[in-house]
Amino acid sequence: MVDSKAWDWDKVKGDHERHWQEPVIESYYLINRWLGQNKKDFLDLGCGLGRHTIQFAKAGFKASGFDLSEASITRTGEYARKANVAVDLKVGDMLSLPYADNSFDCVYCRNVISHTDTAGMRKIISELKRVLRKGGECYLTLRSKQAWDFQQDWPIVDENTKIRVEDGPENGIPHFYADYNLIQDLFKDFDIVKIFQVEDFINRGGNITSSFHWHVLICHN
Ligand SMILES: C[S@@+](CC[C@H](N)C(=O)[O-])C[C@H]1O[C@@H](n2cnc3c(N)ncnc32)[C@H](O)[C@@H]1O
Repeated sequence: MVDSKAWDWDKVKGDHERHWQEPVIESYYLINRWLGQNKKDFLDLGCGLGRHTIQFAKAGFKASGFDLSEASITRTGEYARKANVAVDLKVGDMLSLPYADNSFDCVYCRNVISHTDTAGMRKIISELKRVLRKGGECYLTLRSKQAWDFQQDWPIVDENTKIRVEDGPENGIPHFYADYNLIQDLFKDFDIVKIFQVEDFINRGGNITSSFHWHVLICHN
């Protein structure tokens, strides 16, 4: 299994930091859905700067944030204090979650669990199953094999995984890429509630790039 590596959040400042503090569109759908199902215990797995940890805490969930980066957890704690919400925060590796079995009703992993290789992905999925209660749901995103970066001439770990090379916070971090059939196989022990692929367009100072991610909603059956 490839070594885990946290994001270098010290490189994320200014506009880039503001981007990572603003909740994304599907988070509003998930709050609505999970409140409607009386779900309470929420884990933001790979929480980064905690934009969703804080958003879910404000919405009334008992919110936990977890990340491999100490800097991200420190900053999430500062933002939570400013927002006046209580959150539980832990530093650790998603390959071995520091939570008891059946701890959570709902888990959100946005652009996180792709930071491993194929063996790591299978281990993380078994951890998700362990910490979710029966009937619990997890919404996760995975990088797609259609994304521009899967074509890059970066170091190869296995048939689905490359090590990213860049002058930014993700340098040296493993990236796992999936297609539809691989997702069906990875999550065969869950009910797959929804699966769709999204192309995101990002405008950085007039330079427009796009990327493809899978969005997957699974239920512990
Ligand atoms: C793209 S950021 C997404 C942050 C957050 N989910 C959001 O949407 O704002 C990916 C995060 O995953 C974390 N991460 C990477 N590998 C990890 C691991 N093995 N265990 C826990 N967190 C990890 C990184 O440190 C980083 O904070």
